[in-house]
Amino acid sequence: MLILGIESSCDDTGVAIVRDGNTIVSEIVAGQDAYHSRFGGVVPEIASRKHLEHVLPAVQHCLEAAGITGNDLSAIAVTNRPGLVGSLIVGLTAAKALALTYNKPVIGINHLEAHAYAATFAGLPYGQPNLTLIVSGGHTSLLEFHGNEIRQIGRTVDDAAGEAYDKIAKQMHLGYPGGPIIDKLAEKIPHPGFTFPRPMLNHDNFDFSFSGLKTAVIYYLHKHPETPPEQIAAAFQDAVVDVLITKTIRAAKKLHTDTIVVAGGVASNRELRLRFKSRCIEENIAIFIPEPKLCTDNAVMVAGLGYHKFKAGLRSSLSLGVSAHSEFSL
Ligand code: KG4
Ligand code: ZN
Repeated sequence: MLILGIESSCDDTGVAIVRDGNTIVSEIVAGQDAYHSRFGGVVPEIASRKHLEHVLPAVQHCLEAAGITGNDLSAIAVTNRPGLVGSLIVGLTAAKALALTYNKPVIGINHLEAHAYAATFAGLPYGQPNLTLIVSGGHTSLLEFHGNEIRQIGRTVDDAAGEAYDKIAKQMHLGYPGGPIIDKLAEKIPHPGFTFPRPMLNHDNFDFSFSGLKTAVIYYLHKHPETPPEQIAAAFQDAVVDVLITKTIRAAKKLHTDTIVVAGGVASNRELRLRFKSRCIEENIAIFIPEPKLCTDNAVMVAGLGYHKFKAGLRSSLSLGVSAHSEFSL
């Protein structure tokens, strides 16, 4: 069964064709970093316009690469929440147009659930109960997956982890997106020699906060401008990774979960992956992290999850709308 997936919730236009939820037939991600980099973050208006330019050629590319036409598809899965409203509308409208053209059903997909689904490509059996940490430019959420139920048990109260990376990189004039750049710089300094605060580490909940850490780094930069960027990057990353791992493991123990998933753009971070995996070995917890390409935004995760929703009988109506927020009801 072939499902076409469309992802346009932020600044990446992703299209993919996936067979039976687990075999990638064709895929493409048309990024927009070059258009947003001089602003140090995603400009929503630019993002929508670029999606509009990219989406249909990307669909065409995937159909041709797969050697099929739209008639061969079983359904079209599309991210319709959460995300930038203008960006989501472009992907959803393209999906509806294709659905009408080929007389196929549309299935609305939750972007966070799709990020978590990417872990099935790393071996997680679909439907296995787990605790998922989504860490991206727009989200830092701890989700408990149990059967068809998804419960959010924690989230950031201010900036998302990836947003903190991007904002620090902007302050340091390192470029955009900041995550991969800081990741590379930090790799050079295994022991930064000083520490930044770990926000909310000892709070008795599963929420996160990164704006205080960002402020601490900015103050430090002003006070110690001579500090090598590699050292700042390493100390900042150490704090982020420590908080994410400590709070997730604590939540897993409290919920008696023996399976953790880490997904979203920041899950492609080298240090986060290494330290999470070795901590989970110590704690006897199974951990699934998608390969980096499936951590950042893509449509493979959308098409893959779409297959299971389709099999479960889910169909969205053509009056389906978009939402900036996450709702786990579908
Ligand atoms: O999941 P994603 O592609 O888009 C959203 O849904 O937000 O995540 C993008 C975010 C950006 O903030 C980017 O800086 C961050 O993921 N990111 C990283 C790394 N690669 C991407 N953060 C830390 N280390 C990385 N290697
Ligand atoms: Zn994402």
